[in-house]
Amino acid sequence: MTQRTRILAPDAGGIAEAAALLRAGETVAFPTETVYGLGADARSDDAVAAIFAAKGRPGYNPLIVHVSDAEAARRLADWPDLADRLAQAFWPGPLTLVLPLRAGHGLSPRVTAGLGCVGLRAPATELAQRLLRAASCPVAAPSANPSGRISPTTAAHVLDGLDGRIAAVLDGGPCDVGLESTIVDLTGPEPILLRPGGLPAEALEAAIGAPLLRSDGDATAPTAPGQLTSHYAPRAAMRLNATDARDGERLIGFGPVAGHVTLSHSGDMAEAAARLFDLLRQLDAEGDGPIAVAPIPEKGLGVAINDRLRRAAAPRD
Ligand code: TXA
Ligand code: MG
Repeated sequence: MTQRTRILAPDAGGIAEAAALLRAGETVAFPTETVYGLGADARSDDAVAAIFAAKGRPGYNPLIVHVSDAEAARRLADWPDLADRLAQAFWPGPLTLVLPLRAGHGLSPRVTAGLGCVGLRAPATELAQRLLRAASCPVAAPSANPSGRISPTTAAHVLDGLDGRIAAVLDGGPCDVGLESTIVDLTGPEPILLRPGGLPAEALEAAIGAPLLRSDGDATAPTAPGQLTSHYAPRAAMRLNATDARDGERLIGFGPVAGHVTLSHSGDMAEAAARLFDLLRQLDAEGDGPIAVAPIPEKGLGVAINDRLRRAAAPRD
């Protein structure tokens, strides 16, 4: 179904409009500190179905539910002590906690793809916080891109993929972090890192006081159902760990590897994370020649950057 997608300003009027659309069961994209999310009322089957339809997302892939704070989260899920500690340390922020659903949660079963657990996150941007409070409902929101494509870090990126397929986008400018949230599964006896993201695992491990288990990354049995091997895909072919450009390649540099463009001259990981998706989109729009990327150290945010790059470079079907 096509519709006119409205662009809403990041002010009281825009927030009120966005909240009213959410309450009316419409889909609204909004900025978080990680990436733009495509939101809908998480209690409504039809609203949640509209998210899956707009993105072309398979129904088995559950959605993260956004709440303003831990108090709102506790109404939806069982809340072990560790959830409390992690939420106190890192919420609002780029951390999603997967927890067992609580009786009487009221969420549409489509949100969790029928699983007994839900991913919960309190986003940090003031706009997202104001929107969640104004909507006063839990908001299901995957990244606001067509399924399998690169996540959006500006309102223009959102429109690029979803114009005419969603009711509105709240334009809050570019996202600060630029990578999706870190996802931790707290449903078992030990916490498990399901997806590296905008909160470095080292920070989580320091708060937990122990090393985090990793999901095995086996693409045939992903623990986070959306963690398919090929994801975040630009159209162009990609080559990683490149220190120079081969024939026809456009090289994305980092630190000492200059490149045609760079993620960060100074080798700053936060700057690289914030620029990654925008640079991939720019190069993809410029032409279809292959893209090469300089090595990124596998620590801190570099772990999530490398995860997204490997998925972007993975063979497509
Ligand atoms: O930063 C982010 O997390 C952004 C912003 C908008 O919050 N959202 C985001 O959503 O990246 P999405 O749908 O693109 O990625 C969510 C991932 C998927 O891989 C999904 O399978 C996983 O989280 N997930 C969601 N609910 C889950 C659950 N109950 N159990 C396991 N994995 C879950
Ligand atoms: Mg996504």
